[in-house]
Amino acid sequence: MYQPDNQPRLGVCYYPEHWPEDTWEADARRMKDLGLTTVRIGEFAWARMEPEPGVFTWDWLDRAIQTLGDAGLKVVLCTPTPTPPKWLTDAYPSVLRHSEDGLPEKHGSRRHVSVASKTYREQSRRITRALADRYGHNPHIIGWQTDNEYSCHDSTLSYGPEDRDAFQLWLAKAYGDINALNAQWGTVFWSMTYRSFDEIELPNRLTAEPAPAHWLDFRRFFSDMTAEFNREQCDILRAGSRVDMFITHNFMVAEMGFDHWTVSSDLDFASWDSYPLGFVEKFAGRMGMSGEAIVDRYMRIGHPDIVSLHHDLYRDMSRTGRLWVMEQQPGPVNWADWNPAPVDGAVRFWTLEAIAHGAEVVSYFRWRQAQWAQETYHTGLNRPDGTPDRASVEVESLRDDLPKLTFVDRNDAAGGEKSNTVGLYFDWEAAFTYEALVQGKDQNAYAHTANWYHFLRRMGLNVEFVSPSRMAVLPAYIIPCAPVLEADVVDFLRETGAPTVFGCRTGSRDGTLNWMPQPMVCEDGVPVEPLMTDLFLDRVESLRPSQQIGVELADGTAMQASAWVEHLRIMGLSEPGSNAPPVEVLGSFRREPHLPSGLDAAFVRQENLHYLGFEPDYEGMKAIMAPIFDAAMIAADELPEDIRMRRSDGRLYVMNFGPTDYDAAKMGLRGEAIIGEGTVVRPYTISVFADT
Ligand code: GAL
Repeated sequence: MYQPDNQPRLGVCYYPEHWPEDTWEADARRMKDLGLTTVRIGEFAWARMEPEPGVFTWDWLDRAIQTLGDAGLKVVLCTPTPTPPKWLTDAYPSVLRHSEDGLPEKHGSRRHVSVASKTYREQSRRITRALADRYGHNPHIIGWQTDNEYSCHDSTLSYGPEDRDAFQLWLAKAYGDINALNAQWGTVFWSMTYRSFDEIELPNRLTAEPAPAHWLDFRRFFSDMTAEFNREQCDILRAGSRVDMFITHNFMVAEMGFDHWTVSSDLDFASWDSYPLGFVEKFAGRMGMSGEAIVDRYMRIGHPDIVSLHHDLYRDMSRTGRLWVMEQQPGPVNWADWNPAPVDGAVRFWTLEAIAHGAEVVSYFRWRQAQWAQETYHTGLNRPDGTPDRASVEVESLRDDLPKLTFVDRNDAAGGEKSNTVGLYFDWEAAFTYEALVQGKDQNAYAHTANWYHFLRRMGLNVEFVSPSRMAVLPAYIIPCAPVLEADVVDFLRETGAPTVFGCRTGSRDGTLNWMPQPMVCEDGVPVEPLMTDLFLDRVESLRPSQQIGVELADGTAMQASAWVEHLRIMGLSEPGSNAPPVEVLGSFRREPHLPSGLDAAFVRQENLHYLGFEPDYEGMKAIMAPIFDAAMIAADELPEDIRMRRSDGRLYVMNFGPTDYDAAKMGLRGEAIIGEGTVVRPYTISVFADT
């Protein structure tokens, strides 16, 4: 498979169909002169590729690829399935995505189709096959991108007739027998009982909430449909292409529409689209990092943890440990509520940050700012008239630096240093489950994970993401949310013996969300054994944001629990003769006259596994984790709020997201930086040091 050499490379997203053909050659030459090596094209060009049903006009695309190739650039070609032409949706209206009110969406934008529509799937296979036939052996093409940002604009769930038919089939396959479904979903509860699978409706236009298992299965169904949609394209592209061509997809942040781990397993590697300023404005809330103060503070550089979390997540999701940033913000975007310009140096900063986290290619979006249609305020490397915009200058400034940043081993999670690395678990099933079982307005699995990520990065640690499909041997683990807990995960954790902290709700439900008396481990959704023999969960409480409950650790350290607390009960149930020591209470809720009885143990341990019956705040995380870091020989050292670091490939990257100088000598760093001056890291810059 194509791999760039062992130094990071830069690329760009380009839309030859938007510009007169006589400008292509000069564009390509200037891309090359700027030091770019890759160009991604084609993801929205279906109507130009096939203007009439079955009539393909490849000539312009042939010439565009040839022009780029002649300039020495390598091309990533996309399947254009996020934007079917008007003739297609007119001829096959059942392909349209149906919104929650059951109405079909219209032509005039993008992503207006359903991945569950079998008619759309046929069309997707057809255009993918045509592309593979035409370009699968083109010498200038190094790889494929499937579609574009699955689920972007919350476009996964759909409520049309084809969706319903496919959902019923999916359920019939999953349960086999309608009575099994009735039992698992608890349909007797409100006379929801079904006599056959074809009676089951999609969970929209309901008076009150659906049965949680109904909603969860609906979410799993669409997740599976997205994975199948992607897999069908991958199979066709792989069968029809040179063996060294890769397949990737550009994921979009904080998208909870489908399980990204599953989709990634069919790709050669994952890539993602990084818009640091748009994310602070638009997604900080989804990730529990909201608040005017945070947005104001980072509005021109991006949040120190939102971007890096996704670099880490998508790198670790890649089967090969490789990572591309397929779209990198170059200046103001157009799609957040407010769209400020980045601070000078931000584009350079984001590029180095991506490399620190393992990106082998950073590809800017887009070559030229559009002159018409939806994104005219969205900047590019160049203005619409072709003159270089600010980002070009910053890209140019990287030319001498990139050769200093060679990778040690492209296939080892980007050469990440392991001894100071914590495994952080995230799984889309948890997000679906939190949504299906709402018991507190602010419960959000992704945000809980992001809070722990923030804490770990403030401690100066590397983070690797783990999930049921990817467990890696690391010194310690945090599993913030896993309401349905897989036996394989627990077996792995018991075997490594590494200290592990489970967040509240872990193991609290079986595969169809039925209540259980104690946290359990499940195999294929069926409970098989308790997580801790003696640990029982009597009831849970959710708390409004103004409410907090004190927790005290055995050594007297105090902290606050908020949002969610559990009434845990420890029963001396360990089998006589069993090797498991009894559950040890490491922290308890503080007794107060107004609190109900039952709030006792708050933090417990059995062997290497720890369980938290509440959500700790940042200071709480520090106190809880200090002895665990010691036990795992992890050297955690708290960094200032605006500083982050990452160790990889024998280098230490120190990132200053703030407006004042930071002297890295405080971390014990001495001598000259590989990139940067001395030990002082200037505002909004990244310095790189040898990691000795
Ligand atoms: C991305 C998308 C691009 C473009 C860009 C604008 O999410 O993939 O096509 O719309 O946003 O920032």
